[in-house]
Amino acid sequence: MRSFLNVQDLGNLKEALTEAAQIKADRYKYQTLGKNKTLLMVFFNNSLRTRLSTQKAAMNLGMNVIVLDVNAGAWKLETERGVIMDGDKSEHLLEAIPVMGSYCDVIGIRSFAGLTDRDYDYAETVYHQFVRYSGKPVFAMETATVHPLQAFADLITIEEYWGQGARSKEQENTIIPSKSPAPCSLPPAPKPKVVLTWAPHPKSLPQAVPNSFAQWMLAADVDFIITHPEGYELDPAFTKGATIEYDQKKAFEGADFIYAKNWSCPGVTRPKDYGKVLHDYHTMMHWTVDAEHMSWTNNARFMHCLPVRRNMIVSDDVIEAPTSLVIPEAANREISATVVLKRILQSL
Ligand code: CP
Repeated sequence: MRSFLNVQDLGNLKEALTEAAQIKADRYKYQTLGKNKTLLMVFFNNSLRTRLSTQKAAMNLGMNVIVLDVNAGAWKLETERGVIMDGDKSEHLLEAIPVMGSYCDVIGIRSFAGLTDRDYDYAETVYHQFVRYSGKPVFAMETATVHPLQAFADLITIEEYWGQGARSKEQENTIIPSKSPAPCSLPPAPKPKVVLTWAPHPKSLPQAVPNSFAQWMLAADVDFIITHPEGYELDPAFTKGATIEYDQKKAFEGADFIYAKNWSCPGVTRPKDYGKVLHDYHTMMHWTVDAEHMSWTNNARFMHCLPVRRNMIVSDDVIEAPTSLVIPEAANREISATVVLKRILQSL
C-alpha cells in the first residue's frame, strides 16, 4: 500500500477487520517488521489521539519515529505554486517534501481543510504533493477531506460492540433451537442501524470525519442514515447510497449506534457558503445529543471521534453513560494505525 486515503485503499474490508482483531489480540506480533524503518509524522494542525496512537502503532511494529510540527519550530511553509515568497513563509513545500522524504521510509500527513477554497481542499492538494514529491508511501492522519484512520477505528469499534451486547433486548431474547449439542443459540445478528448526526459547534469545522465515516459505513454491513439541518449535505462522493433524514428524531428511532459530529457547510447545495457555520449555534442547541435524544434510540451506543465540546455536541450524562464508546473508540486508533502501517511496511 503506497497511499492511504480511502476505504478502497485497504482492499477487502472484512479481511482488514479480521486483521485488526488479530492485531488487537497480539499487537506486538510484527515487532520486527519495522526494524530500521523510520516513520515521519508531519502535523500542520494540532492532535492528541492521532499523534499518540500512530506513534504507538509504529512502536508496536519496531519502527523509529520522527514528529514534525510544522507550526512549532519549522520554517513557515508556502504550499501554493506561483506565489512570490516575500512574506513570512521562508520555505516552499516543494523543496521541503523531498527533503523530508530523504529522512524516512513512510510519511503520515495531518493537513486540515482551509475551508475557503472548496476546489483546493477537495483536490487534496497538500496530500497529493507529498505523494508525488516525497518518493515514499504516504498515509492520511486527517487531511482536507478525509480521516480514514479514525473511520477504520470507528468501524472496528462498531464490530466489537455489535457483537457484544449492542443488539436489542428483543433480539437477544429471540432464542432459536440449535441442532448442536448446545441448548440454544442466537439467530444471526441483523445489521446495526448506525446514525451519523450533525450537532452544533461555535466554529467552522472540516468535513473530513463525517466524509470518511460515511464512506466506511457505506462499505460496511450496516444500515446507515445521516441526519443534519438543511444546507449541511455532505459531498455525494462520500455519501452516495446513504439515507438522508432531516428530522433528527425520525433518524434516531431504533438506532443502535449514534455517531455525533459537527461539520461546516460542505458547499454542495450552497456553494457560496462552503466552510461556513450556517446558523447562530444558539439557535441549534436542539441538535445537541442529550438523554432525551438517546431515549428515541434502541438503547444506542454513543460515539464521537474526540475532541468533543461537552454540552454543545453531547451532554455530560450521555458521554459519561455506560453506553458511551468514546474511550474504546479512541483506543482503537492504535489498532487501525497498526494495521495500516503493517500493510505499508509489507509493501516496501
Ligand atoms: N480524533 C482525532 O483525530 O483526534 P486528534 O485530533 O486529537 O488527533
